[in-house]
Amino acid sequence: MHATSRVIATNQLGPHKDVARRVARALDHPLRKPVAAHTREAFERARAWYEQQGGGRRPLILDAGCGVGLSTRQLAARFDDHLVIGVDRSADRLSRAHGEVGGNALLVRADLVDFWRLALASGWQPARHYLLYPNPYPKSAHLKQRWHGHPVLPVILALGGRLELRSNWRLYVEEFALALHQVTGVAAPVEPFVPGERYLTPFERKYHLSGQSLWRLAADLPHAPQLVPGVSQEVN
Ligand SMILES: C[S@@+](CC[C@H](N)C(=O)[O-])C[C@H]1O[C@@H](n2cnc3c(N)ncnc32)[C@H](O)[C@@H]1O
Repeated sequence: MHATSRVIATNQLGPHKDVARRVARALDHPLRKPVAAHTREAFERARAWYEQQGGGRRPLILDAGCGVGLSTRQLAARFDDHLVIGVDRSADRLSRAHGEVGGNALLVRADLVDFWRLALASGWQPARHYLLYPNPYPKSAHLKQRWHGHPVLPVILALGGRLELRSNWRLYVEEFALALHQVTGVAAPVEPFVPGERYLTPFERKYHLSGQSLWRLAADLPHAPQLVPGVSQEVN
């Protein structure tokens, strides 16, 4: 079976020259954007669920930008002793019927920029954290929108756990690796990734069936809230 998915078109020839500057800025300047009320409410519901399910005693998995939540469902089945929370801002994607979400999984509609900050402020320490096929924002001018060019990067990394990024755009993963190293000192290789029998996400399936190469980075990170400038004042 084939799928047609356009290959990433970018005006970049290599990693963006401003990655290091953006990362340095994120490390120096607290993210001042106020947390949106709807994400605060969504987070409170997620926290109540997490605590009810024995959060703290059961390891947590975050599926950040989970889309329709297929990966959330699969991760919940694969790691059945974990609690899995899938977060996406798209109500449309989250509402598509893709079967029951397991009892150990929850889908949440929220903006990750705020959700991550609230999670860190609540002391959450995911055992695993997935960033599966984030929007690539391939134009050079869009660096700020890539997670490694965004001021929230230190928060993502501070949460800790096994962080796994997958993308069909090698440069995205290479830039993320540079940013990861700059913030944490961890050198994570950028590896080609060939999906096994089951695709973890619809985008993974679409890109693979279109014949595109996939790329992955995984890193084991300590929980390190001190990476984030002024975190406690910003979100509490
Ligand atoms: C390319 S899709 C990939 C979805 C899914 N991980 C997959 O592989 O099928 C990227 C997803 O990230 C979500 N997203 C992007 N920015 C977000 C943000 N700030 N907060 C929450 N979700 C976001 C989008 O709504 C979209 O569903």
